[in-house]
Amino acid sequence: MSQAFSHQALFPSPDHTRKFAENLSASLHSGDVILLEGGIGAGKTHFARSLIQALQAKSGRVEDVPSPTFTLVQTYDVEPSEVWHADLYRLSHPDEIEELGLTQAFDDGICLVEWPDRLGDLWPENALLMSFEIEETSDHQDQRVITYSGDKDLWQRRVLDALPS
Ligand SMILES: Nc1ncnc2c1ncn2[C@@H]1O[C@H](COP(=O)(O)OP(=O)(O)OP(=O)(O)O)[C@@H](O)[C@H]1O
Ligand SMILES: [Mg+2]
Repeated sequence: MSQAFSHQALFPSPDHTRKFAENLSASLHSGDVILLEGGIGAGKTHFARSLIQALQAKSGRVEDVPSPTFTLVQTYDVEPSEVWHADLYRLSHPDEIEELGLTQAFDDGICLVEWPDRLGDLWPENALLMSFEIEETSDHQDQRVITYSGDKDLWQRRVLDALPS
């Protein structure tokens, strides 16, 4: 890894998160892994679904994007590369990660992974980590703070360019 990059941004509504996901989707290619950290209801699936729907719209293949809560992974045949959406919350054994084909997909596809703490030793070092936090305020119930971290050369420009103004 070269230099590390870290940035924090406030997302006042689900639409802001959707806009960021749409913008970021345009810069993704095979081998990109985005790890989505944060508690239940923090907005990980909302981000992943928005990003997948943006790529589907571009590829002309709009289908449902269910949460992979029980299937652990859902794959999407879109351009520029197959997308793997994983939710590892219910992973029963670390061996399953390899069995699901996820480690191979880290190299070949675009991967969006909820509950990445389950990855242990398989944590991909070139990944972008997005940590979601629910911001509790009396007037705005729906705010989220997202902290980004990853390799500077790989991610800084793409993340900053994708932030909604
Ligand atoms: N700024 C925001 N960004 C993202 N989601 C938001 C925001 N504000 C509110 N929400 C809402 O929060 C909810 C997040 O649910 P979501 O299923 O994405 O959570 P999750 O992190 O995937 O939870 P789980 O750990 O159960 O999978 C959605 O209903 C979404 O609309
Ligand atoms: Mg989820």
